[in-house]
Amino acid sequence: MKPQTIVILGTGGTIAGRAARPSEALAYVAAQVGIDQLVADIPSITDNGPVETEQVSQIDSKDMGFAIWAELANRVNHHLARAEVQGIVITHGTDTLEETAYFVHAVCNPDKPVVLTCAMRPATALFPDGPQNVLDAVAVARHSGARGVVAVCAGVVHSALDVQKTHTYQLDAFSSGDAGPTAYVEAGSLRLLRNWPSAQEERAIAAMKTIAKLGAGPGWPRVEIVMSHAGASGALVDALLVQGGVQGLVVAATGNGTIHHALEAALLKARDAGVRVVRSTRCLQGRVLATPGDIFPDSGGLGPVKARVALMLSLMVL
Ligand code: SIN
Repeated sequence: MKPQTIVILGTGGTIAGRAARPSEALAYVAAQVGIDQLVADIPSITDNGPVETEQVSQIDSKDMGFAIWAELANRVNHHLARAEVQGIVITHGTDTLEETAYFVHAVCNPDKPVVLTCAMRPATALFPDGPQNVLDAVAVARHSGARGVVAVCAGVVHSALDVQKTHTYQLDAFSSGDAGPTAYVEAGSLRLLRNWPSAQEERAIAAMKTIAKLGAGPGWPRVEIVMSHAGASGALVDALLVQGGVQGLVVAATGNGTIHHALEAALLKARDAGVRVVRSTRCLQGRVLATPGDIFPDSGGLGPVKARVALMLSLMVL
């Protein structure tokens, strides 16, 4: 049997948001409309094959956390293992979409497509962008040869590794930075520009095993993000050390990974106390390039929020 079912997992977000009036683009409540209803409102979604829906969560993605991530990874793996399933679409809020995309990429490393999508206007808007984004996401999930975790918004397909929310309001709110998009969706067809993303298989399997054990419970490694900036101090890092429990720190460093000397001194103390420290950059483009004498390892091209997820997973499997 040719796999042709697309499973659409709902998690909430503006795409499922409701406002009091259609003209209202800001004062709305996210995560109100169920995934069944969102999909029922797009009749042409079944034109090229069956779709199934499942509500995994119903939240504003600013509140995303480990319990939902564990459940989402479980459901993604469950459906990917079904022979009749061609791919998965996840509807998600835009605010932490890049973190969930990277998490699913790193722990599921799917050989079928897993496509996150979203909206910048609520479902009740005069011209909601959600339905077209969902249709585009389904087109990506149905594309022959598609694999790995990507995000689709405003007709642009971004790799889970590169995708970043870069705009607070516009419909085309995401960018892949200087890596560039993976593809465009044009009238339901894909114009592929780059290879599909893939993660390290062994690490994914090991991380998934730990996540299955941890579930919603405590025990997820605690990793915090600190930023280097003009006038930075080591006060936050010192406070974290005094409080205890922090296992990793990601520095959103300046430029090519440089850190204010006062913050750097505190980070060295943290490292000596057994805390793993990783350098990312505040810059939206480029990556931290290693230079001789670097004190802390760099994030391998990941921005701060994804570097935090990567460090958590790394702490889990060590
Ligand atoms: C959210 O991230 O859940 C709310 C904002 C959005 O989806 O654009």
